[in-house]
Amino acid sequence: MSDGSTHLQNGPTPTNLDPGRSSARRLSQLLRVSEKRAKDPLSAPELSGQLGAGQLIPTELMSTAGLGLCLSDEQWATLSREEVASILVAGIRFEAVLTAGFGIEIANRLDPAGAHADYALVEIGEESRHSRLFADLIRQIGPRAPQRLDRGVFKLIDRFGTALIIQLPATFHALVLGGEEIPDLLQHLASEHPGTDPHLAAVNRYHRMEEARHLSYARLRLRETWATTSRIDRWALRHLVPVVIGGMWDTLVQPGVYETVGLPGWRTWNRVRRCPEREALRHRACQAVLRSLIDAEVLVQGRIPRAWRALCGVDRHGRPDGDHE
Ligand SMILES: [Fe+2]
Ligand SMILES: [Fe+2]
Repeated sequence: MSDGSTHLQNGPTPTNLDPGRSSARRLSQLLRVSEKRAKDPLSAPELSGQLGAGQLIPTELMSTAGLGLCLSDEQWATLSREEVASILVAGIRFEAVLTAGFGIEIANRLDPAGAHADYALVEIGEESRHSRLFADLIRQIGPRAPQRLDRGVFKLIDRFGTALIIQLPATFHALVLGGEEIPDLLQHLASEHPGTDPHLAAVNRYHRMEEARHLSYARLRLRETWATTSRIDRWALRHLVPVVIGGMWDTLVQPGVYETVGLPGWRTWNRVRRCPEREALRHRACQAVLRSLIDAEVLVQGRIPRAWRALCGVDRHGRPDGDHE
């Protein structure tokens, strides 16, 4: 779970001490908690509310924070709703890719009756409930933004690239970490802010609690798969995964979102990508991923690959840029 800390090493975890036994113990703990907390969010009383009619997240938490935009209250409300819908669509797509990756693991690598396949099926079930909850929110918002990234070369890369890289086990679990740590930080900031729509804040709190288990499981699987994986997988994790996570971050809010309030879509999207406030937030979210990779002994301080350094804003030791003694 992200704590916003800038220190990238958490120190020894129980899995460092006796990897085999503590991994099995951790897995059975995760299974027990998942079984105890299993519920359908669409019928849970604490999630029975509806989104309000106005602005869903405060201006300072929107992707455009730092651009100095001058918009009317109505435009801010529209922009916030379209931005939330865009992030929810990205969330459903990410959870679908995760489901596909776990399906491949069960089909090709895991004992179908073993504890790992059991937990993968539990996680698929949880993601399916989250996605239905997100879809319900999207229907309430009724977004109108044109989907500029769902065509041409972007679509081809997405369709074929994703299908290929989720076949690599360590790469897949590192991407899962990226896809779960990034929303974790955004949902943490939104759920703690009094300006966030109450129903959206409740959904964010629920989802973060569920995802904490998934993050634990991804860390555990990453450590296990790394020990025996192929050179291609190791290369992809070091050099390709940070590029893909950077792409996931950039496409959370699609360019068409900005067009719904009369802003130039691609130009505003590019300004957002280069904005120092937005970069700092990306660094903070991605440093949590890097911290997990270092703790799992997948990446080593002193030899952090260039692409990870660029993604997380750190040096080769994993120290945040500008934090050096
Ligand atoms: Fe989820
Ligand atoms: Fe998850």
